[in-house]
Amino acid sequence: MKIAIVGTGYVGLVTGTCFSETGNDVVCIDIDSNKIEKLSKGEITIYEPGLNKLFLRNLKEDRLTFTTDLSAGIKDAAIIFLALPTPPGADGSADLRFVLDVADKLGKLMTDYKVIVDKSTVPVGTAEKVREAISKNFKSEFGVVSNPEFLREGVAVDDFMKPDRVVIGTTSERARKIMDELYNPFVRQGNPIIYMNERSAELTKYAANSFLATKITFMNEIAQICERLGADVDMVRRGIGSDERIGKRFLFPGIGYGGSCFPKDVQALVKSSNDVDYEFKILNAVMEVNEKQKIHLISKIRKYFDGHLKGKHFALWGLAFKPNTDDIREAPALYLIDALKKEGCTLSVYDPEAMNNVKSVIGDIVVYGENQYEVLDNADALIIATEWNEFRTPNFLKMVTSMKNKVIFDGRNLFDVNAIGNLGFYYESIGRDASIPANGYYRKNIV
Ligand SMILES: NC(=O)c1ccc[n+]([C@@H]2O[C@H](COP(=O)([O-])OP(=O)(O)OC[C@H]3O[C@@H](n4cnc5c(N)ncnc54)[C@H](O)[C@@H]3O)[C@@H](O)[C@H]2O)c1
Repeated sequence: MKIAIVGTGYVGLVTGTCFSETGNDVVCIDIDSNKIEKLSKGEITIYEPGLNKLFLRNLKEDRLTFTTDLSAGIKDAAIIFLALPTPPGADGSADLRFVLDVADKLGKLMTDYKVIVDKSTVPVGTAEKVREAISKNFKSEFGVVSNPEFLREGVAVDDFMKPDRVVIGTTSERARKIMDELYNPFVRQGNPIIYMNERSAELTKYAANSFLATKITFMNEIAQICERLGADVDMVRRGIGSDERIGKRFLFPGIGYGGSCFPKDVQALVKSSNDVDYEFKILNAVMEVNEKQKIHLISKIRKYFDGHLKGKHFALWGLAFKPNTDDIREAPALYLIDALKKEGCTLSVYDPEAMNNVKSVIGDIVVYGENQYEVLDNADALIIATEWNEFRTPNFLKMVTSMKNKVIFDGRNLFDVNAIGNLGFYYESIGRDASIPANGYYRKNIV
């Protein structure tokens, strides 16, 4: 099949590459000419495990091409995916300008039947708006489908190639048949393609992300209670996660959810609800709790240093909003950096993939290390903000020799509290007791 993808970011590039992998001819379109130039030359623009191999293979086979020219890109396509940004507007609702602007242009460019697919996360009613925008200028038949994307950054290729489910929202039989043919190779193991109307598909995406954000936030609140009552959140997590009704996944407490989706999607669903006179109380609470959770480590750090943070130097491991991605949108690490800079601290930071992206946003207000050990030099404490695998079993001996204080604030609960205490570290994590070494070494150099 001939497919055009408009918007070649995290979703567009993964979608385009994976569709070309199953033999389709895919043209990816973007207004960012630098991005298109790089991709055309075989330089991948995002870090996503497993993507580069597929990208290079399909580029070489000429099944995957890139252009900035919308008209040429969509000309022969039977299906046009919109993988465009839907950032939060000033009032919290999803800003549909990118989507509707492209829909408007498509109406002027289309000459034959095509299926236009909303892959962006869009509020209920968007499919109708897209249809309206196109039909202002294109008077023949075309299909509009809502096909929300559920891939997780970090495992996006696997998620796309073997989705738990594919949701297709359309009332058009013709469009449904085309989508069915396109997605069948991805669900050979029997996972369902779930058909519904456009509105239900649009809401399904918001409901999924809001539910997951709620689940994480619930555990973050349980962690807060654990800290106050002397319970261990790891034990509680295992205790409840083995109940099939609850499930083991998404029960890990931390320093708040971030990323390009949860914060904006929760906010947008609250706004959509308000617009129809419904106050979504749970989600309002989720947003409030998450704001506090993002800086929960700061209060622990402040307490440890008896309020004297000015002039302290911190090492920070992890900048991406989660491991196996270079995406830093709404990353908790950025909130920590901001809060510590305001207190007059300095930071040396390290992330295996996200440093260039951070540099382009915050510049040189922090020092960027070559590796995870270099940033520990002379650090008053280490802060961990992302659970990259390489941080899980570090060389503790190497750490001890370069850190000023053997002190760790871990926002991702990477280490066993007793084991790290036995190594002589003062260690605080989320929802668990602190480890306080018996010899009191950790209190050195406080002020
Ligand atoms: N990132 C995720 O994990 C994820 C998962 C599921 C759904 N989504 C949703 O998918 C959508 C896209 O997200 P993303 O993370 O890929 O965004 P992104 O910012 O990484 O990519 C969007 C791309 O669209 C391009 N663009 C903007 N205007 C354009 C135009 N007029 N014509 C062509 N290209 C244009 C931008 O240059 C950019 O490359 C959003 O609605 C998001 O909520 C994202």
